[in-house]
Amino acid sequence: ATRTVVIISGSGSNLQALIDRAEEIGIEICGVISNREDAYGLQRAQRAGIATALVDHRQFDSRESFDATLAETIDGMQAELVILAGFMRILTPEFTRRYEGRMLNIHPSLLPKYRGLHTHKRALEAGEQWHGATIHFVTEELDGGANIIQAPVAINSSDSEETLAARVHGVEHRIYPLAAQWFAEGRLRLQEGRAYLDGAPLPTEGYQ
Ligand code: GAR
Repeated sequence: ATRTVVIISGSGSNLQALIDRAEEIGIEICGVISNREDAYGLQRAQRAGIATALVDHRQFDSRESFDATLAETIDGMQAELVILAGFMRILTPEFTRRYEGRMLNIHPSLLPKYRGLHTHKRALEAGEQWHGATIHFVTEELDGGANIIQAPVAINSSDSEETLAARVHGVEHRIYPLAAQWFAEGRLRLQEGRAYLDGAPLPTEGYQ
């Protein structure tokens, strides 16, 4: 199984989806790291018998020093794959380069639309018919790396931020384990800024 570290800041429902399917998809979650002590995902990890670590960003005076300790923690867990699952800090270029090609992120929008925060609210306010979630390789550019999987979610006229977020979460829990499985099976590559599955380039946007 592929040694995997999951990094979180909050509830960790995506972490839970990965824990539930780890064996089936060929990953071993060897550690969960949070930058927040109150992240509920830490309890999920402990309940599953997974080692946890807290790297509290407030205890560092720069992004560089925070990222350096984060990297030491990841490497101490001997991770082959790094999965960001609701991790809400911006990473330095040095950190992203260190894990390039083996660090994935999930973002709650159909990237390149709605990078950054409050994606559900922004999609609703823009009157979008479609919203969704994206799994991508992490590169230096915030929410800008090569897309691996996109899952669309139709917006209803009765949707609130909460109902829309709930449906996006539903698809997230399906696509993150799939992307992790592809990586674990050695089928996924990042090459010159583009993601490849089984040697064929994945579309940069707009596929399901
Ligand atoms: C997910 O919706 C994920 O896409 C989003 O945070 C949520 C975490 O939920 N990620 C980002 O916004 C990254 N900037 P979870 O803690 O229940 O997995």
